[in-house]
Amino acid sequence: MAEKQKTIQSFKSAKAEGRRISMLTAYDYTTASLLDEAGVDCLLVGDSLGMVMLGYENTLSVTMDEMIHHTKAVARGTKQALLVGDMPFLSYHVSTEAAVINAGRFVQEGGAQAVKLEGGADVIDKVRAIIKAQIPVLGHLGLTPQSVNVFGGFKRQGQDLETARQMIDDALLLQDAGVFGLILECVPDGLAKVISERLDIPTIGIGAGMHCDGQVLVIQDLMGMFRRMRPKFVKTYTDGGDTMVSAVQQYIREVQDGAFPTVEHSFAIDEGVLAKL
Ligand code: KIV
Repeated sequence: MAEKQKTIQSFKSAKAEGRRISMLTAYDYTTASLLDEAGVDCLLVGDSLGMVMLGYENTLSVTMDEMIHHTKAVARGTKQALLVGDMPFLSYHVSTEAAVINAGRFVQEGGAQAVKLEGGADVIDKVRAIIKAQIPVLGHLGLTPQSVNVFGGFKRQGQDLETARQMIDDALLLQDAGVFGLILECVPDGLAKVISERLDIPTIGIGAGMHCDGQVLVIQDLMGMFRRMRPKFVKTYTDGGDTMVSAVQQYIREVQDGAFPTVEHSFAIDEGVLAKL
């Protein structure tokens, strides 16, 4: 029997029932259908697609149109996972109206059930407006990559008392605004524990230790396919990059020496037809 599509309610009940949530990024149909088949709870079409799929330096160049294009592909491969679209840089910063319109595109055109956006008090009016438009929002605090130029690089956040307190306040503010979950990226595990304990909604960690209510990883990191950088918090579950390179090297050799294709990969023609050619 096909598994039922997960919802934001499944997200909330997971925390209440003490079940940890698994979340992964996906950017294309084939990968999404495999991750969905594996049973992951939530797929995020992250703006990390700019780095791992499009080869940009950071996430700042990613556009709404690129995000929608990839969200549509992921939606076609998703049957049971909750699908969240990541709002790219400047798609929600300029006005609440633009934020609602862009969030709406993820649902209406992309086929997502929810959107994610980065920030706390600074974007709370946008979060409220999107939720008011009946679009569920997933929050994101800590190392929010769209602020890379303000942080001066991809650096851990919430290390001192002031910034740690600020993050707790932002987390509570987002919860009060109605977000259904909160991603904590690159924050000390003790701070993630405090935030997870103070919130009723689930926290999803990435580089935030073992006390969060769920975890998220970029799929290319998990598969060992993104070789440009490998943050300390990444666990690589297989050497997918090496596997791909050696499979392709074997293919090149077989094409060169004629070992591929064989009869097994070819189509036959009727001998009578062939004789008349
Ligand atoms: O864009 C992304 O992939 C993300 C996750 C790493 C949380 O924001």
